[in-house]
Amino acid sequence: MSAPKGENLTWHVGEVDKTARTAAHGHRGAVLWFTGLSGSGKSTIGHRVERMLIERGAFAYVLDGDNIRHGLNSDLGFAPEDRVENIRRIGEVARLFADAGALVVSAFISPYRKDRDRIRGLMGEGEFVEVFVDTPLEVCEARDPKGLYKKARAGEISNFTGLDAPYEAPERPEVHLLTADLSIDEAAAQVIRYLEQQNILGES
Ligand code: ADX
Repeated sequence: MSAPKGENLTWHVGEVDKTARTAAHGHRGAVLWFTGLSGSGKSTIGHRVERMLIERGAFAYVLDGDNIRHGLNSDLGFAPEDRVENIRRIGEVARLFADAGALVVSAFISPYRKDRDRIRGLMGEGEFVEVFVDTPLEVCEARDPKGLYKKARAGEISNFTGLDAPYEAPERPEVHLLTADLSIDEAAAQVIRYLEQQNILGES
C-alpha cells in the first residue's frame, strides 16, 4: 500500500481475522493473477476456473479486463501510465476481495512485470498465484476474437500490446499455461491442480 494523501487516518482492525474467514469459506483467499496478450485466452480460461471453483463450493470471482474498463477504470486508456494505474487499482481491488476470503481470478494483460510484482508484494506468502497464459502472438493475432489486431495493423489503434506496445512475460510464474497444447478444460484444471497442491483449496 502507498502512503495515503489524506491526514488523520487510522487503520481499523476488525473482529474477524484470516483464520476465521478461511474457516467460514472452507479455503484460503488468494489472487490468481492471469497475464498474457490480448486474445491469449485469459478471460476464457479464467471464467472456466471460476466455474470449477464455484462448483466445488468455493467463493470465487472474476475481475475481467474489458468489464472493469467499463466501470471502475472507464477513465483510463492504454498509454503506459494508464495501464500502470489500471493495474494498480485492480491490484487493490483484488487484494480486498482476497482479504474477504475470495479466490479472485483477475484477467488483464498487465504487460509490465514491475506492476505485477508490486501486487505480489501487497499479498501474503502464497496468496499471489501468477498464471501465465502463454499464447504466441501469431496465434492471438490469427484468432483476433475482437478484430483488434486487424485494426491495430491498419493503424486504427496505437499502443497495441505485442505490436507497438511491450509485453513483459513472467519469469517464474506459479502456473505456466502453454495453451497451444491445452484445451480450455485442461488449462483450467492445471490451475485448480496448483491450488490443490498448495493447499489453497480446502477439502471438497
Ligand atoms: S492492460 O494492459 O491495462 O492490462 P486490459 O487487460 O485492462 O489491459 O485491457 C485489454 C483489453 O482492452 C484487450 O483485450 C482489448 O480487448 C482491449 N484493448 C483496446 N485497446 C487496446 C490496446 N491498445 N492494447 C491492448 N488491448 C487493447
